[in-house]
Amino acid sequence: MSEAPVQSDLRDPEARRALMSGVGAEPGSAKPDSILTVDNIVRQFGGITAVDVDHLEVQRGVITALIGPNGAGKTTFFNLITGFDRPTSARTGANWSFDGKRLDKTSASSVARAGMVRTFQLTKALNRMTVMDNMMLGASGQRGESLSVSMLRPLWRTQEREIETKAEELLARFKLLEKKDDYAGSLSGGQRKLLEMARALMSDPKMIMLDEPMAGVNPALTQSLLGHIQSLRDEGMTVLFVEHDMHVVRHISDWVVVMAEGRIVAEGKADEVMSNPAVVDAYLGAHHDTDLGDDALLQEETLEEKIQEYEAEALAEERSHDHGGSASHEGEQK
Ligand SMILES: Nc1ncnc2c1ncn2[C@@H]1O[C@H](COP(=O)(O)OP(=O)(O)O)[C@@H](O)[C@H]1O
Ligand SMILES: [Mg+2]
Repeated sequence: MSEAPVQSDLRDPEARRALMSGVGAEPGSAKPDSILTVDNIVRQFGGITAVDVDHLEVQRGVITALIGPNGAGKTTFFNLITGFDRPTSARTGANWSFDGKRLDKTSASSVARAGMVRTFQLTKALNRMTVMDNMMLGASGQRGESLSVSMLRPLWRTQEREIETKAEELLARFKLLEKKDDYAGSLSGGQRKLLEMARALMSDPKMIMLDEPMAGVNPALTQSLLGHIQSLRDEGMTVLFVEHDMHVVRHISDWVVVMAEGRIVAEGKADEVMSNPAVVDAYLGAHHDTDLGDDALLQEETLEEKIQEYEAEALAEERSHDHGGSASHEGEQK
């Protein structure tokens, strides 16, 4: 597995513009150095085709915005590529790879281990946990660390302390350190978004996926959230985020991908995309009366169940590694 080339020059806006300037402005266009490549992902719910993506490439080291009207399939797409949902096209050629590694036959925890993480809204269960415990949970995708089990396994104590130190550093960065023993449920809307981001960073991802990171955040914190997202990019991370506010999209995206009715209908630089007739159509043709909201359709209980499954999987995988692993371990195929 090759380490991402540190394109530190991508901190320079000119360098990013130059990098993307040669990229075709058509759906599915090739990128100079794609970190995520997706082919033939279809997800149907009954008669509805929620996602139908032929081909998509996401450029490494830049910020890509995924936009589109409510119901376009953005959240479902995130769930699919991170292993929290399965494409209905699984047997007919759906495949995607991240940083050179096939991910379509892999579990959500293996996806996280490969370096691609998405943020989750704080569910009821997570609200009842402290800020610190939420952070510790965020480490589990990477290391198979689980709160209850880590208490039982002295071997893991050192690792747990390391994880705790890392959690504290991240909390300090996001100005949440003094809240570490508070219940996550007591945080403001903006602080919750910061915690979601901090938690995702516990697994040292190469790419972070943010689903409406500004939703419900007061304007004073929006600026700080934007700053954090840009810093992640400046540190070499790839960012893929869903956002409705076009000012935000324009302000921080290096590239914009537009979805409508499950399909990628346009790609390009922010200003070019916004004046593209296909994009205007997609927005005007959409049903503005339905606000599905972030993760609204993944019922909270379902999501909690999935997160629990994810924790259990991560733990099982960690154990199989501890015991020498197994040759057929699905997450480690090249
Ligand atoms: N669990 C589900 N069951 C049935 N339909 C769903 C489910 N999740 C999403 N959908 C449908 O898939 C489509 C895309 O939804 P979604 O991915 O949430 O869109 P977006 O995030 O772009 O607003 C919508 O028509 C929605 O009704
Ligand atoms: Mg959504």
